[in-house]
Amino acid sequence: MANKAVLFYGLESIAEAGITDVGMIVGDTAAEIEEAVGDGSQFGLKVTYIPQERPLGLAHAVLIARDYLGDDDFVMYLGDNFIVGGITDLVDEFRGNRPDAQILLTRVADPRAFGVAELDPSGQVIGLEEKPDRPKSDLALVGVYLFTPLIHEAVRAIEPSWRGELEITHAIQHLIDSRADVRSTVITGYWKDTGNVGDMLEVNRMVLEGMDRRIDGDADTASETIGRVVVEEGARIVNSRIVGPAVIGAGTVISNSYVGPFTSIAENCRITDSELEFSIVLRDSSIQGVGRIEASLIGRHVEVTPAPSVPSAHRFVLGDHSKVQITS
Ligand code: G1P
Repeated sequence: MANKAVLFYGLESIAEAGITDVGMIVGDTAAEIEEAVGDGSQFGLKVTYIPQERPLGLAHAVLIARDYLGDDDFVMYLGDNFIVGGITDLVDEFRGNRPDAQILLTRVADPRAFGVAELDPSGQVIGLEEKPDRPKSDLALVGVYLFTPLIHEAVRAIEPSWRGELEITHAIQHLIDSRADVRSTVITGYWKDTGNVGDMLEVNRMVLEGMDRRIDGDADTASETIGRVVVEEGARIVNSRIVGPAVIGAGTVISNSYVGPFTSIAENCRITDSELEFSIVLRDSSIQGVGRIEASLIGRHVEVTPAPSVPSAHRFVLGDHSKVQITS
């Protein structure tokens, strides 16, 4: 998101709220996460890694963090959640009132993809369901939860769901059933669970909207940078037009190209003889002579080039879970 990992925005919010220790539950991608986050000192945090053998659910994550957490109150923050405005107010409110648990809710168009809360007329949470077919409200659970040690009993008391996971939603329902004080806050600010490309492009757009113009790299006289454009030091713009909001990472060269609004291009990329809009390009990738690309997410070390004219065919090397749309 604007050339920074979603996880980093979360860690910054956690540090801002005055939290100092983070137990990071990691799975298959442990090595990559450790490489990026390290000991957490770049965020002012002390990060401890807690491996989860398989994705067995969010309540399972709490279960395996039991020793790490001890008897402390804690925030559970899902690493793919993006919340504008951070969590400082929420953490302060929780510290002040100290209910047994506090959840965050937000209104969504299609609640079936989330945990869904039912509130009584006074706003008290009376029921929670995980990804219901027939949601009882449009209030989705946001992936930030505040807990006291009471949650440890609840995560031990529940059974795996139909998807084979120990659901934190069920553990919170268990607290409600045992008459614990579970409070909710409905947030009106911007929130997204960045689980798919559409959501990622949308969050990227949002973050770019909030940036100020800054040109630290070089743009030659044949180039134009219009509006809120960030060109990082060491980036070069040659005979190109960049219309903001957009960010061009350090060491990237844009030549004979157009980069349109809501585009993030990371470090050390080459964009040549191409047009790019409403897209994310991760580091060390190159796009050359391919016309216009829109609404796309391009990974690291990717090459996009025209195919030889004979035979007329598409040639791909696509990673897992790739999606390609071709105009022929
Ligand atoms: C998880 C929770 C769900 C919550 C969502 C928020 O869903 O189970 O209740 O609404 O995070 O991001 P999952 O990411 O496991 O599908």
